[in-house]
Amino acid sequence: MNTAASGFEPRVFSGIQPSGNVHLGNYLGAIKRFVAVQDSYNCVYCVVDLHAVTVWQDPDVLRQKTREVTAAFLAAGIDPAKHIVFNQSQVKEHAELAWLFNCVARMGWLSRMTQFKDKAGKNRENVSVGLFAYPDLMAADILAYRATLVPVGEDQKQHLELARDIAQKFNMDFAEQIDRLGLGVGADKTFFPLPEPLITGAGTRVMSLRDGSKKMSSSDASDLSRLNLTDDADELAKKVRKAKTDPAPLPDTLEELAERPEARNLINIYAGLADETPQKVLSEFAGAEFSTFKPALADLAVQTLSPITQEMRRLMDDTDHVDAVLRDGAERARVLAAPVLRDVKAIFGFVS
Ligand code: TYM
Repeated sequence: MNTAASGFEPRVFSGIQPSGNVHLGNYLGAIKRFVAVQDSYNCVYCVVDLHAVTVWQDPDVLRQKTREVTAAFLAAGIDPAKHIVFNQSQVKEHAELAWLFNCVARMGWLSRMTQFKDKAGKNRENVSVGLFAYPDLMAADILAYRATLVPVGEDQKQHLELARDIAQKFNMDFAEQIDRLGLGVGADKTFFPLPEPLITGAGTRVMSLRDGSKKMSSSDASDLSRLNLTDDADELAKKVRKAKTDPAPLPDTLEELAERPEARNLINIYAGLADETPQKVLSEFAGAEFSTFKPALADLAVQTLSPITQEMRRLMDDTDHVDAVLRDGAERARVLAAPVLRDVKAIFGFVS
């Protein structure tokens, strides 16, 4: 554990938006890591519905997608009895802390967020205020639990840095109050830990199957660009078959893939699914044509993802169970977040 978080009880927090399809990028970059760390840490996994509504969501679809992400968590192997699985809007402390962080974070910090710039594009005047303030809510998600470790894909790195900046500014601005109220932790007597991103494995940046320069994303208009966790075996195989490649056979070193983004992406996907290093995959397939590699990748994708898909389907037919998991998780989340908010409000100087 890093020194910045020392003194704090180790805790994992992460979240996924219930907007669009849960895809392979979410699985390899996030969900698979959520499962991997659950034997070593206490974990809080959140379906971030408040984040989803920073852009328009059809209410019926939002409800369904919230259950779908929850089903993906459970089907992938997250244990909701040992860990906390819930949806963000059921725990009011997220929104409350996000407001306070709106008053800690600076306009300049948020204006530099590349995800905001990408999403808003030329339409800045017309996007929601929530889309701009989005990273403050994300910081609140993490820090309401004083979480120390955050498994995410590479695209969330900048947001994590912002969460650390907010934690640090809060700790500094209120150092005297924190000390006076005896609420400091560790040698530095800080209130919030500086949460560390956990960005590991071959799948931290899964690219589109149609364009190796674009991230695999639920908002891509082409469904062929991504493998969804709800795709059946035929769809998975078809999408791998149709994935964009180049005419050269596979090389034996990663350096030779530097200018071949589509080939590199498929090797990374294979490595992520197989839990191997990309180099090991290359040694296995060096010299092979895509006509050999693609069927092997399709088989591996089907073998790995189909059991998850089947379990997700079963769970999505049992909405009572899924909703009960979320309600129970939310209750346990509140038990953790409420005292943190009580302290934060005292630190701010609010009368209660
Ligand atoms: P979201 O919903 O866009 O994505 C959820 C997780 O999936 C990862 N991911 C990817 N990883 C690899 N390759 C890809 N192509 C890919 N696409 C998505 C993301 O990095 C993420 O880990 N802001 C977050 C949600 C969030 C959150 C949080 C995360 C809200 N509060 C607190 C951590 C902690 C988001 O929009 O992720």
